[in-house]
Amino acid sequence: MRPGSRYNVGMESGDTTWHRNLREVLERAGFTDTNVLARLRVRDFPSLRGGDVPILLHRTGGGSALDTLIRLFLVEVPCDLDALRDAIRPMDIQGLAGAGLITIEGSSARPAVKLLPYKNLFIAFDLPSRLLGDGRQDYVMGIGSSTLTLAGLTIRKPSRLTLDLGTGCGFHALLAAHHSDRVIATDINERAVRFTRFNAMTNGIEHIECRTGDLFKPVQGHAFDLIVTNPPFVISPERAYIYRDSGLDADDLCRTIVREAPRYLADGGFCQILCNWAEYAGSDWNAGLESWFAGTGCDAWVMRSECRDIATYASTWIRHTEKGDAVNYPERFGEWLRYYDHLGISHIGAGVITMRKRSASRNWFRADEAPDSMLGPCGDGIANGFLLQDFLDGATDRDLLGARLTLSPDARLERSCSPSPEGWMETALKLRLARGLAYSGDIDPFMAGVLTLCSGQRSLGEVLQDLAAALDSSPDTIQDAFIGIIRALVGQGFLLPEGCRFEQ
Ligand SMILES: C[S@@+](CC[C@H](N)C(=O)[O-])C[C@H]1O[C@@H](n2cnc3c(N)ncnc32)[C@H](O)[C@@H]1O
Repeated sequence: MRPGSRYNVGMESGDTTWHRNLREVLERAGFTDTNVLARLRVRDFPSLRGGDVPILLHRTGGGSALDTLIRLFLVEVPCDLDALRDAIRPMDIQGLAGAGLITIEGSSARPAVKLLPYKNLFIAFDLPSRLLGDGRQDYVMGIGSSTLTLAGLTIRKPSRLTLDLGTGCGFHALLAAHHSDRVIATDINERAVRFTRFNAMTNGIEHIECRTGDLFKPVQGHAFDLIVTNPPFVISPERAYIYRDSGLDADDLCRTIVREAPRYLADGGFCQILCNWAEYAGSDWNAGLESWFAGTGCDAWVMRSECRDIATYASTWIRHTEKGDAVNYPERFGEWLRYYDHLGISHIGAGVITMRKRSASRNWFRADEAPDSMLGPCGDGIANGFLLQDFLDGATDRDLLGARLTLSPDARLERSCSPSPEGWMETALKLRLARGLAYSGDIDPFMAGVLTLCSGQRSLGEVLQDLAAALDSSPDTIQDAFIGIIRALVGQGFLLPEGCRFEQ
């Protein structure tokens, strides 16, 4: 905590009864995401940002405990002390102020944090207005789009020990607590650690341990089944915010995490990193990345979801975080671009890196584009992608021909037709997966037909042999024509080899 800061979230007393009371007050008020969104009549919480305050106040004018809590902690307006007293009974207002959730000014209470219901959790983090004031450097971010992206891709297998590195308000630690025997949440920012401790206690989760420190320093000697991290990955010349700026050049922070993580992984354990990396004109985007993993004893899958030219990247981030400093925008923008020019960076790629420790044999590296859509939680899709890549990496073409492949039950074929003088004419055929990592792509009708022959009954070689006979072609010609696309379809999960034990 910075000296003089009035924020004190964390209840250093560790008073579990107080936290249980708070949880019960929130539950009794019906402070759930469903109720809040319905009361505010907004689609999701991000739509609240920059919302129309008079409308939101109108919609929460009923005077119920839920209305008061929404106004205070989500619309971020002061509320009358008497109304708050009624809303939080039997708790007292001084307790809320002592915990740093509110400040009292005359006869009203002001929010000192944002408090958000998320599924069955309550999560406190900094008010966005803190980014505009003195306390901007140790700002603790809430649930941003990067947070949700990582959460959606996290492999949620049972874990004996999970690390959330750079935990912020503790969101990933709280989610991981559901499938982990024990979770360690770390952050270099002491305020973030306090928020996480506060959130763990308020949600009654006792097996999250919070530690302060730089990267892996607080967890020396531990071996994790799962490490998740959404680090300060932004590539910029700035050093303004702990949550955004690592203080290292270019993508050195993410590279350092990749290099150090294996030492803290149990064999078979996964490390998932939300990442930005520098890309250079004239080189393949993944050319430099492969070397990050050399000698780590880990298989690695880099899934690129975005690539922005440096100007778009700089403008997006400057506008995102420097809201109060529009005057200096042109100057800042120039500074960011000079920084990229100096380092020779032309584009910045973004995505998730998943590493799996497998020290016994040669490791593989896979780098490809993320699917256009991710439908629902995708952790199983990532875990299954590792099984599929294990299969492909070890398989010669002969092995592949000997395998029995089954078309995934999640595969869907969509036809698009256009009007023509003869009636509807098929103009496109698209193959896609209906859930998880929902890869999709155009496919020709012949190949679509071949896929239906993959029912797991016969080997791929037998299927292609029949095809060769039907087409009056040689088996070798048919194999050469199809083996590459079959490999790609296995890699994306359209075709499933028998014997792989997939997560459902
Ligand atoms: C982008 S925020 C992510 C917060 C949260 N995990 C999430 O996903 O919303 C990055 C977090 O990493 C923390 N951090 C920055 N540098 C760090 C370091 N060297 N070691 C540990 N944590 C660090 C920041 O304080 C911040 O909480």
